[in-house]
Formats: sequence, structure tokens, C-alpha cells
Amino acid sequence: MEHPERILILDFGSQYTQLITRRVRELGVYSELHPFNFPIEEIRKFRPSGIILSGGPASVYEQDAPHSTPELYDLGIPILGICYGFQLISYQLGGQVDTFARKEYGPANVIVDDTSDLFAGFVPANGSSEISTPVWMSHGDALTKIPPGFQVLAHTANSPICAIRNAAKKIYAVQFHPEVVHTPKGKVILRNFLFTIAGCKGGWDAGSIVDRAVDEIRAKVGTQNVICALSGGVDSSVLAVLLHKAIGDQLYCIHINNGLMRKSESEQVTRLYRDTYKFNLDAVDASDIFLGKLAGVVDPEQKRKIIGLTFIEFFDREAKSIGNVGFLAQGTLYPDVIESVSFRGPSHKIKTHHNVGGLPDRMKLKLIEPFRELFKDEVRAVGRVLGLPEQLITRHAFPGPGLAVRIISDVTPEKIRIVQEADEIFIEEIRRAGLYESMWQAFAVLLPVQTVGVMGDQRTYDNVIALRAVHSLDGMTADWVHLPFELLGKVSSRIVNEVRGVNRVVYDISSKPPSTIEWE
Ligand code: XMP
Repeated sequence: MEHPERILILDFGSQYTQLITRRVRELGVYSELHPFNFPIEEIRKFRPSGIILSGGPASVYEQDAPHSTPELYDLGIPILGICYGFQLISYQLGGQVDTFARKEYGPANVIVDDTSDLFAGFVPANGSSEISTPVWMSHGDALTKIPPGFQVLAHTANSPICAIRNAAKKIYAVQFHPEVVHTPKGKVILRNFLFTIAGCKGGWDAGSIVDRAVDEIRAKVGTQNVICALSGGVDSSVLAVLLHKAIGDQLYCIHINNGLMRKSESEQVTRLYRDTYKFNLDAVDASDIFLGKLAGVVDPEQKRKIIGLTFIEFFDREAKSIGNVGFLAQGTLYPDVIESVSFRGPSHKIKTHHNVGGLPDRMKLKLIEPFRELFKDEVRAVGRVLGLPEQLITRHAFPGPGLAVRIISDVTPEKIRIVQEADEIFIEEIRRAGLYESMWQAFAVLLPVQTVGVMGDQRTYDNVIALRAVHSLDGMTADWVHLPFELLGKVSSRIVNEVRGVNRVVYDISSKPPSTIEWE
């Protein structure tokens, strides 16, 4: 998508780099993250309103330390360096960076010496003559001599140089991290950089994303048809509604029920999109075929492979029955696109979409991926602008291979029934407790063990259900949710009483890493 105002963020490997991208977007300016060695021609082509150099774990003077091209400083584009970015700017422009005698990790107080631009709006606390503000530090090196043409804007008790400016070149840098919540006024600094220094106007929000995406989709698609796999999850739902707004009946959605969805999910999807939204929706019940192919398969990767291939087979077959198809729409998100493992680009590793990987080549379709630039919460915001039901927008993530990876053994219709019913009770009680939206995901897992129990004087030998609830920002790392004991007790008792075949419930208290969110 073309954005009139764009901030370029160069990644030097800090764990907070994605946060900078998000903060800038939260302030209403579109931003993109690229590796530190993004070529100068690409930077020119990108036409950024401003450039932010991120933090990173290296020392600027080390061999192999990541350096961007110094030509960056002659582009006349405002620059803000953060942490490593601060040291790099200083080093490349003639300052002196040395190992800091006292490493600074964690909270610190910065004294602001100049409030004319980057620190505009900072005032002394009542009764104080000094402007002191808490910040988050994380550095082992320090600037001992500022580069020519720069002046100091802030200091701490430990480091006399903590923020610098070259007013003529509009180059700014701070030693601390304004993007993290532990720097409470960090957003003010970023806002000052974006609006006062880089001259941005803002206005990038979900509404503007929708308007622009609709125009672009129309222009790209012309008179051809677009197909879209609609699972009913957040991403595919928002995608389908956006496409429908753009091209109406030129959109053909295909919903394949693989028999591994949550209880009644397939019926709900069909009802909502075919009956309420009046989409062209081809709903295929392929449960018997999927379950037939999965019979006796225990290995998780084998399950995934079978489900993926069978999905493609069906999707392909259904798509062929629709004429004049030129495009395949996919809900690829920004975190799938950006280099998440190594910041040492330039090759961008792009994950293929879990469910439709392999399709485009074979079907010779062009891709439409309107969310390639968006984070999940931004997709949710787009969904709200498009008027999707809140329940759908806030729905927990669900894996493509569905319940197959939550049944820790071979998949049978009976095991699917057990895990579906247990899951429904767990989610119902979490919703009742008002906790559903406070977590990333919650679900039930059926374990491959039977244990002894006693029910109404009868000995039982039945299945174990494990419950899992996690907090996470993006699914990459996760923490287990400290659910109230009363809630766990209630869920356990309901599952054992209401789900035939279960006599024991356990709660998973592992985080990711070292565990994963799903059990398989
Ligand atoms: P893990 O289990 O890898 O999960 O910690 C991270 C997030 O991804 C979801 N997940 C999947 N989603 N196809 C998907 O579409 C898959 O094969 C798959 N495996 C895991 C998982 O639910 C969690 O939100």
C-alpha cells in the first residue's frame, strides 16, 4: 500500500525493535521495519519522512558490528537513534564510544537540559528546578565525546551525554529506550520526533487502512474473481469482509469443514457469511475424508502434512468450479513477513501461510494480501471499522490443523467429541468470569492416558483432559494464565460430570519457551 507518510525503522537486533514500529503506528504514522543494511537506493525509494535506528546488542566498535551506510546522514531526512542507534550515529559521525565503566540496565533518571524540540513538553516536577524523567536503560557502552556539530540535550548522574542533537542535519539520538512502557514519557519523545521534527501529520488508522485497501483491491482485481479460504478465524473473516466491501460478488469464499473445528463452528461460519452477509460461499463438509486420512496417524508432523495436503486438494477442486479466477486472497500478517529470526537481512524470510502454502504456484493465481503490513491488533481494528461482531474479532487464535493437534494420539470422532465438549465448557466458564478477552488463548487437550477414578461407587478408567490458558503478545512467547482456583475447580467438576469419557482434569503451568502453546 502507498502511504503518504512513512517512517523507516532500521533494525540492529534489539528485542524492542518491533515495539518501535508499533509505537509509531499507534501515534498515527505508518512505519516499516527493515534490516540495518537496507540499501541506500531502497531507502531513497522508500521516501521516509523520518528514519529511526533501533537498539541492538552489539558494540559499535567491534568487528562485524552492524553498521548502516553513513550516506544515510546526508539524505536530509530527520533521524532518531535509539540506544545502539545513538552510539552508531555518534561513532560514524566522529564521536567517541567506549566501554562504560558501569553498565546500565534497567530504570534510570534522565535530567533534561534542553526542551526546545525532542523534549518539548517536559517540565520540572513541583518545587524542583530540574527536569527529571524516568527512562529505561540497557547499554554497556557510553558516549565519551560527542560528534562535531552536535549538542547535549540530556544527561544522567552516570552518563553526562544521554541525548544529542545536530539541529542543522535534524539528527537526534537518545541513549535510553523511549519505546518501552518503563519510559513513561517515551511516547512524548517519539511524538515530538514524528510531528515536530519530521513534520508528519498523522492520521494513519484503521479507517484510513480500509479506505486505501478497498481502492487498491478494486484497481488490482479489475473484472476478475478472487477466491478466499474462509476458516471463520479473525484474519480470514476480516479479510473476507474487506474484500467483499471492495469487490462484492467477485469474491468467492470457500469454507472447508475438516471435522477438526471447535464445536458447531462450521455451522456458525456458514450461517453468518452465507445467510447474514450474503457472500458467495461454498461450504464443503469434508470431515469424513479428513478423518479417514488421519485414521491411525499419531505423529504430529504427519497429521499436519495430511491436513495441509487434503486442504489443498479440496480447495483446488472447489476453486476450479469457479470461473474467471485471477487472484487468491491470503491473510498474511506483518510478523509473518518481517525478518523475525535474523535482523542481518537483506533476504526476507517469508513464512508461507499455514493453510494454503503451496497453492499459488500450482494454481497460477496472483496473491492479494491486504494485511501484509499489519499487526494482529491492527487487523482487529480493521474488523471493527468494518462492523464485524465483537465476539468474532476478539476470538482466540486457533491452529490450522485444528483439534488434531490437541488430541495427543490418533484422531477419532469420539476423541473429537470429548475435546470439543471439554473446550466448550472451559471457554464458557472463562467468558462467564469475564476473563476471555484478557488472554491470548485457552483450550482443552485430550491426553493419551486413562486413569482410575470413582464415580457414584463405580470404578472408572477414563480419559484425562489438560486445560491450557496463556497470555501472549504474538504467540512467539507465552506465559500461563494464573486462573483463579475457584474457576479451575468449577471447570474441572463440570467437565468430569458433563463430558462422557473424562474422569480427570489437569492444568498446564508451562510457559513458552521451553514449551509451546499447542501440545503438538
Ligand atoms: P505454538 O504451539 O507453536 O503456537 O506455540 C503458537 C501460535 O500458533 C498457533 N498454531 C498454529 N496455527 N497452524 C496455524 O494456523 C498451525 O499448524 C499452528 N500451530 C500452532 C497456536 O494456536 C498459537 O496461537
